[in-house]
Amino acid sequence: MIPFQSLADTYSTPLYLYDFDAMKEQFDTLKEAFRGRKSILAYAVKANSNLSVIKHFASLGSGADCVSIGEVRRALMAGVPSYKVIFSGVGKRDDEIREALISDILYINVESEAELGRVEMIAQEIGKQARISIRVNPNIDPQTHPYISTGLHDNKFGVEINAAKRMYIRAKNSPHLDPVGIHFHIGSQLTALEPIYEAAVIVADLMRSLSAIDINLKFFDVGGGLGVQYDDETTITPYDYSQAILGALKGLDVTIICEPGRFLTANAGYFLTKVLYEKKNGSKRFVVVDGAMNDLLRPSLYKAYHRVEALKNEGECTPADIVGPVCESGDFLAKEYPLPMMEHNDLLIVHSAGAYGFGMGSNYNTRGRSAEVAFENGEARLIRARETFEDVIALEREYL
Ligand code: LLP
Repeated sequence: MIPFQSLADTYSTPLYLYDFDAMKEQFDTLKEAFRGRKSILAYAVKANSNLSVIKHFASLGSGADCVSIGEVRRALMAGVPSYKVIFSGVGKRDDEIREALISDILYINVESEAELGRVEMIAQEIGKQARISIRVNPNIDPQTHPYISTGLHDNKFGVEINAAKRMYIRAKNSPHLDPVGIHFHIGSQLTALEPIYEAAVIVADLMRSLSAIDINLKFFDVGGGLGVQYDDETTITPYDYSQAILGALKGLDVTIICEPGRFLTANAGYFLTKVLYEKKNGSKRFVVVDGAMNDLLRPSLYKAYHRVEALKNEGECTPADIVGPVCESGDFLAKEYPLPMMEHNDLLIVHSAGAYGFGMGSNYNTRGRSAEVAFENGEARLIRARETFEDVIALEREYL
């Protein structure tokens, strides 16, 4: 049992709390599902990029999927070996490409023909051969929220099959490029298996046709996307997921790379917030708390559901909007949520906050970002201090 109240008292609120044992359990479960096959789990750092979280996964043997050079630096600092680091993303700057090549990471996931040209040029400039993988857009509807769907031609990500073929041939013929992998990622919070299987089949077929022209790729990178339970959704089991991918890969001898983010961290994280006041506007009930959209943006941005638990759960529940102090009507953590009468300083625990929580936070309304605490083996430790006012204004100039 996590001592939520005493942790909230010790570290104050709003607070992010991560159960490191639960993260390990998720990692081990997914790794186990691919047992017997060459595989690398490359943790998608964007889900929760705290250095201690990355270090935790690195210690379990994880690689890292990164989408900026900042994330690559975090991964390397946290002890992920360079040969397990991948650099993805639709728009990489020249300096980012250069640094990734110098850092000798596993490969760069290339997302356009123009980008392939930049990578080739920069590799030539610094006298390196760039290991690359190409992100294929298989034009599959992942059946998830439109903002986190990425594998349709309508989305900005990846290249279509024919463009990918051209790019592989170009890479094969370039002394500065070494095509080693193929990549797809059709979306996040996936709860249907069929689209993943269909995408894997399309991309595996492309891999076979490349092999027929003597372009032999080592890595089959299936992206991330495995959904988790926020409410009552039915999710894909790691075993079914791995079987679908292995089913598409029949006859191919490849290392599977998987880039899970949410699956590893979401349900291991909690956002703790305290009640400031109860209020009513007409018959509408509001519970005003000290956490806000700048701390946890998902409800405001995606209308995402997060389960909320009142630690002191006494009395009849009636629906309330749980809102923060930020000056936006869109600042809410939950709408029409059944809660008992709350008092000043009562604690609310927002569940499933370990992925895309802290990382999507901001300083809007000059609010310092929350502290982050790890809980492991029955003990808590601070892994990021709460931002002070001085931290928030530290980079501003010429105001005196
Ligand atoms: N690999 C690639 C190339 C990705 O774009 C992503 C996520 C992942 C892996 C990790 O996906 P996961 O396993 O976490 O589903 N902010 C949104 C989610 C955005 C996901 C972006 N890409 C949210 O809060 O739901």
